[in-house]
Amino acid sequence: MIRDVQDILDLYAHHGSAPYGAETVSHLQHALQTATLAERSGEAPEIIAACFMHDIASLLRLLPDGPRSSEAALAALADLFEPAVLEPIRLHVAAKRYLCAVEPDYEESLSPPSQMSLVEQGGPMDEAEVERFMHNEFAYDAVRLRRYDDMARKPEMETQSLHHFGRVLESLATVATR
Ligand SMILES: [Fe+2]
Repeated sequence: MIRDVQDILDLYAHHGSAPYGAETVSHLQHALQTATLAERSGEAPEIIAACFMHDIASLLRLLPDGPRSSEAALAALADLFEPAVLEPIRLHVAAKRYLCAVEPDYEESLSPPSQMSLVEQGGPMDEAEVERFMHNEFAYDAVRLRRYDDMARKPEMETQSLHHFGRVLESLATVATR
């Protein structure tokens, strides 16, 4: 299913036109925008790659033999990328629940679909969850990823290409081909 970076690029090339939830951008546009915003902010390649792939679980679910859960999707990528790439993705929902807990205006700033999914995701973190989250070494990376994600919903935004981010992924992949 995902053996190398080319498989990831093929996934986005073939299935990326699927709408990104109820937003006005496609999955591919959303991934390119999130990664482009990270790159423009001077983020490390690991964060740029995490931003590009942060919703890959939703695309993998479109494949007949694809993993059904986010955890299974990350497991499918575990041979290819280091935790510095995968952990901010794993903490994606946690970062949203964290920001809703610590920033009073954050929840209101979310798009309506994102506000709706917050309820299913458990709502804002409680104090103990916030404390635990802040001790995770990838928490700050996940929060920044979240900020880029929140801004990456504009149909007209100019981005770098799929090929461009393919090269970033290639530079980080621990196994080029298997
Ligand atoms: Fe996203």
